[in-house]
Amino acid sequence: MGKYVIAGNWKMNKTPAEATALINELKPLVANASCDVIVGVPFVDLPAALEATAGTNIGVAAQNCHWKESGAYTGEISAAMLKAMGVGTVILGHSERRTYFGDTNETVAQRVRGALDAGLNVILCVGEYLEQREQGVTGEVVAMQTKIALGGVSEEELKRVIIAYEPVWAIGTGKTATAEQANEVCALIRATVAGLYNDAAAKALTIQYGGSMNAGNAADLLAQPDVDGGLIGGAALKANDFSIIVAAAK
Ligand code: 13P
Repeated sequence: MGKYVIAGNWKMNKTPAEATALINELKPLVANASCDVIVGVPFVDLPAALEATAGTNIGVAAQNCHWKESGAYTGEISAAMLKAMGVGTVILGHSERRTYFGDTNETVAQRVRGALDAGLNVILCVGEYLEQREQGVTGEVVAMQTKIALGGVSEEELKRVIIAYEPVWAIGTGKTATAEQANEVCALIRATVAGLYNDAAAKALTIQYGGSMNAGNAADLLAQPDVDGGLIGGAALKANDFSIIVAAAK
């Protein structure tokens, strides 16, 4: 993984045929990207996405995985299964999973463990709710999420982890964190990682911002010293908008 990474999180959008069409539209637009480019697609779109991206500079991510390799877990998908089909990365701990599907800091940590054991790269999402920001505990919340998720992750394994700072109040709301707010929390995450490991590991870590990042505000956010990329929801569903964000990551 390079330092700058722009990843799309398509969430629960696009059929396999629509995924192929969007990736085919995207391919020429990002072919000369100077950052890493990833599309995070629904499970059922993974075969289509892997086929459409073969031989290109676009990586493919899943949006979740279970921590066990196999077993009686109806409806779940293991990291080993993703790895076996050629998926490179998995998004874990997204706030939508924490809010709607019961993911906790502890189960996110288990998923991170399972994904790293299977050989996947991880995009670990952290971020505070609006009430937490208003109560002045953003730093504590994000540091705790980071520390628990990285518990047991070695310095060598950390090289396969990206952290995405996604303030929940900025996701899908059109309310972007200001570039200064984004940078402040990304810097805090980096300091937390420095405390867990060391300065070099923290410096090498890719920290993304996510939350209403779009073609208009990406350059400002990505210019911040501690913002090394983006995790993009809505704007990742439009090839042209996504490619503008990719071009802004230099
Ligand atoms: P939006 O870009 O739609 O706000 O979503 C951000 C996000 O949740 C990416 O994971």
